[in-house]
Amino acid sequence: MKRILKIFIALVLIYAVLIAYLNIANPKFSWDWSKKNVEDINFPKGFQWGTATAAHQVEGGHTNNNWYWWESQKDENGKPRIANNEKSGLAVDHWNRYPEDIHLMNDLGVNSYRFSLSWSKIMPGPNKFDTAAIQHYSDVIDSLKSNNIRPMITLHHFEEPLWFMQKGGFEQEENIRYYLAFVQKVFEAFGDRVEYWCTFNEINVYTSGAYMSGDFPPGKKDSRLAGTVLMNILKSHVKAYRLIKELPHGNQAKVGIVKNIFFFDPKNRLNALDWLGAYFANDNFNNSSLDFFETGEYRFVVPFEANVSYLDTNAPKTLDFIGLNFYSHYSTTLNLVNHDKMFSPVEGEEMSDMEDYTLYPEGIYRAIKRMSKLKVPIIITENGIADAKDDRRGKFIQRSLFAVSEAIKDGYDVRGYYYWSLMDNFEWNLGYSKKFGLYDVDLKTQKRTLREGSKKYEEIVKKFAN
Ligand code: NOJ
Repeated sequence: MKRILKIFIALVLIYAVLIAYLNIANPKFSWDWSKKNVEDINFPKGFQWGTATAAHQVEGGHTNNNWYWWESQKDENGKPRIANNEKSGLAVDHWNRYPEDIHLMNDLGVNSYRFSLSWSKIMPGPNKFDTAAIQHYSDVIDSLKSNNIRPMITLHHFEEPLWFMQKGGFEQEENIRYYLAFVQKVFEAFGDRVEYWCTFNEINVYTSGAYMSGDFPPGKKDSRLAGTVLMNILKSHVKAYRLIKELPHGNQAKVGIVKNIFFFDPKNRLNALDWLGAYFANDNFNNSSLDFFETGEYRFVVPFEANVSYLDTNAPKTLDFIGLNFYSHYSTTLNLVNHDKMFSPVEGEEMSDMEDYTLYPEGIYRAIKRMSKLKVPIIITENGIADAKDDRRGKFIQRSLFAVSEAIKDGYDVRGYYYWSLMDNFEWNLGYSKKFGLYDVDLKTQKRTLREGSKKYEEIVKKFAN
């Protein structure tokens, strides 16, 4: 009996030491905003001030891509794939209204614009290019430049031609050649006028949506495949980087990739299983791709489901910058059977309109710090809030930019900030209900109106943009 008691006490002690160690080694990252002077901000000369959008979300007229197909699909229970059965349709007609939208950017005072090219419009078939679509983007670029706005192009922002998806997309390594043909074509067309290129947007969001949760097309739930797709995307990035550098104007191009950092924090800091769940989630979602660019080692692990690895020691040399998208963090527990049940909003924090994104503006500092391990310049390619009532946006912008300013003050190399989004748009499987726009868009009339809360961004941009 005494022996059992001793073992029990020893186990309790070991557990207590372990929990104490985890808590000390990973202190909770949160700021007491009542003690911060958020007006005390500063940004360097030449900082990129921008807004961001993506083709499928704003342009309208997509009839030949993975999302167009997805918008007509139903899940196993017969429910439409998009909330309220919405279709992207005309979206906010950015395809036709881009001159007006560029004026909206001028009104804000921003000097940069991040947008994506529609791969499906430019490449309607495996060996076919649409010259009118290429001309369209050429006109957009010229118009931006004549309005003193620096274009930043995203080559793959969740959308791809339907024919590419039907060939297995990035599940098949041999399909990388189609992506490279697209990259070559558009770089040859625009490389003389565009300096900043993002090869892929939010690689881990794409692979987890498309191959783990099944919320994005092709809607598969297969962790191993997710690991393979992510690996092929990383390989595609490396190849695209090298390809661009060899093309005319390639030596003046800055090529990077966009990574969304979403932190997974233990729900209960005294529960070792929650720490384990947070560890697995961070490792899978954040470290898999960040480590690849830090060391060349790719490791994608989902316990009992997937273990995909790959090594390319030259990978760290294929980034001229890294794009950081930052939104929030999750409270995490361990659930090896149903991964979706592992995550919930962090208690005690104010909510945005996204079902599970709390307002966590200081997290952007934490994300910059994490990303700085890669030792390349960081550009915040997205940060924003879904806020239909517009009663949190101003505060969110002020605090987020305070956190970015603090990071710069502390020596982190942050070169720009692009607000997501210029205007309301089609939020993928969540449809049109999520209002991320600085400009509200009336979907019936397409009228754009600057939101009150967005004026904070305008004010800060106008103070520092030069
Ligand atoms: C990141 C994605 O890149 C963008 O497409 C999306 O609309 C925003 N996050 C908001 O969820």
